[in-house]
Amino acid sequence: MPDTHAEQMLVLKREYLIPCVYHFYREPMVLERGEGCYLFDSQGRRYLDCYSGVGVTNCGHCHPDITRATLEQAGRLQHTTTIYLTEPMLRLAEALAGFIPGKCKRSFFCTSGSEANEGALLLAKLATGRQDFIALSRALHGRTFLTAGVTGLAFWRTDPEPPRNVHFAPSPVCSDCPYRLRHPECDLRCAQEIEYILEKNPGRVAAFIAEPVHGNGGIIVPPPDYFQRVRAILDQQGVLLIMDEAQTGFCRTGKRFGFEHYGIQPDIITVCKALGNGLPIGAFVATDEVAEKYTRPGASTFGGNPVCAATALSVLGFMEQQQLERTARGNGRQLKDLLETLQRRFCLIREVRGLGMMLGAELVRENGEPAAEEMDLLLETLREDGFLVGKTGPDRNVLTLMPPLIMGQVEIDALGTGLKAAFTKHFG
Ligand SMILES: Cc1ncc(COP(=O)(O)O)c(C=O)c1O
Repeated sequence: MPDTHAEQMLVLKREYLIPCVYHFYREPMVLERGEGCYLFDSQGRRYLDCYSGVGVTNCGHCHPDITRATLEQAGRLQHTTTIYLTEPMLRLAEALAGFIPGKCKRSFFCTSGSEANEGALLLAKLATGRQDFIALSRALHGRTFLTAGVTGLAFWRTDPEPPRNVHFAPSPVCSDCPYRLRHPECDLRCAQEIEYILEKNPGRVAAFIAEPVHGNGGIIVPPPDYFQRVRAILDQQGVLLIMDEAQTGFCRTGKRFGFEHYGIQPDIITVCKALGNGLPIGAFVATDEVAEKYTRPGASTFGGNPVCAATALSVLGFMEQQQLERTARGNGRQLKDLLETLQRRFCLIREVRGLGMMLGAELVRENGEPAAEEMDLLLETLREDGFLVGKTGPDRNVLTLMPPLIMGQVEIDALGTGLKAAFTKHFG
């Protein structure tokens, strides 16, 4: 039966949205309601959400405790802006300082990941007095002028004239090494490239920005010693390390933050997405030493907004109480097993990778071409069968799983059955 409601919404979209706003699915449904790990469309169909709105609803959709915190605050005070003191923002800053391991303790709140990264890059300039940045070739850091500028991933580099003060180093993708070397014999040739960039641009580079695990770039986990080597290279030249924890933060990878996997201390981390579990909030969080360099006036109209801050406080409480990083480790292991079992049966899956509940299965044809059309077939079939998964990677051929971290055994088993059925239908 045709979904006439979805057809009407598509007409509005085509007429009133700027065409750059694209959607998944040939015939997209209209999502109306969320509960736990599930989403419901306007026809009443239920879907197991395996993408969490790109790593946002880590605590599940509309958890009653978190929703209560939002509603209570919305009924009391919704907005003042940062020129006035409000308790939720300050309590959140305190809670975040306790939640983040290590030395990043000073927050500046804003409303999105792009804004958080933009602010972090500005802070790095102020703290070092330099103007250039180094970023990775497959990274995504946002859609504002500068954050799109430090985004190496071609799919998201829309501006024909990006900023000139950005240098790119190759992403540490061992399965597709640009130097055709193997880790560890490679001696981290990709990290050495950062050293060469610094040598060629003495005294110019303020910061190196990176995701602990590339999200949109196709769930790329750098080798375990990569960031330690990078940190040592940066330290020789006084260059700051910014970790973009937009997708990896808040227990997603089985630790509270992605940087913890590598035994390093960033100078600034940026957070957003799962901090609000669906409400718009972001922040850059710096060490005392770096933060104290930002004394010129800074403000964000909605940064630390009481409703978002009260919600985020409740999110942090929920994560602590439920020990979500442990859940993500256990569930993540099971989900990875599911993907690896499929990989043994279907040669289309070239590699399974990821940490915790941030997982990808790269689909490649026998002739070595990225299997983007096959990825789309799976995406459509899984949706028809009630599963919403993601796709990432420069060639859009990495089947991506980032479900709510609260997923239970019933959902894991159902996803296993759904994935197997979809692969068998098309490639069995
Ligand atoms: C790693 C990373 N950084 C930054 C952003 C930008 O965040 P926002 O869309 O909230 O501006 C994203 C968004 O997908 C992201 O994945």
